[in-house]
Amino acid sequence: MGQLLLAAFAAASLVLSVGANAAGDAAAGKSKSAVCMACHGPTGTSPNPLWPNLAGQKAPYMVKQLKAFKSGARKDPIMGPMASPLSDQDMENLAAYYSSQKQK
Ligand code: HEC
Repeated sequence: MGQLLLAAFAAASLVLSVGANAAGDAAAGKSKSAVCMACHGPTGTSPNPLWPNLAGQKAPYMVKQLKAFKSGARKDPIMGPMASPLSDQDMENLAAYYSSQKQK
């Protein structure tokens, strides 16, 4: 009985951790977003007409753009250096955070 419970618990935690990796972790993204805030606003609504809103944007699109900024496929003198230190997981997490926010 004890062993069965243990096995069920192990299986459940495996599913949970796999799920978090695949979808991006919004809480981790939020803590990583401190540097993005100055331009994109604390919750992804930008105060400047030339800086895009990120709140509510589709997560896969944002990941694609961040990868493009990092690789240089999309060129921007501001966003290139912002994206270059980010790992793929950071990008997934940031995208999960901003896509879950509402535009203000
Ligand atoms: C100094 C200001 C600044 C900072 C800081 C900044 N960004 Fe940006 N971001 C911009 C500007 C400006 C653009 C639009 C670039 C263009 O015109 O192509 C942009 C574009 C983007 C886009 C593409 C939006 C779209 O609709 O295509 C994403 C995603 C993004 N930023 C995410 C981030 C993330 C994540 C961070 C933090 C790691 C960050 N930015 C930090 C200014 C900034």
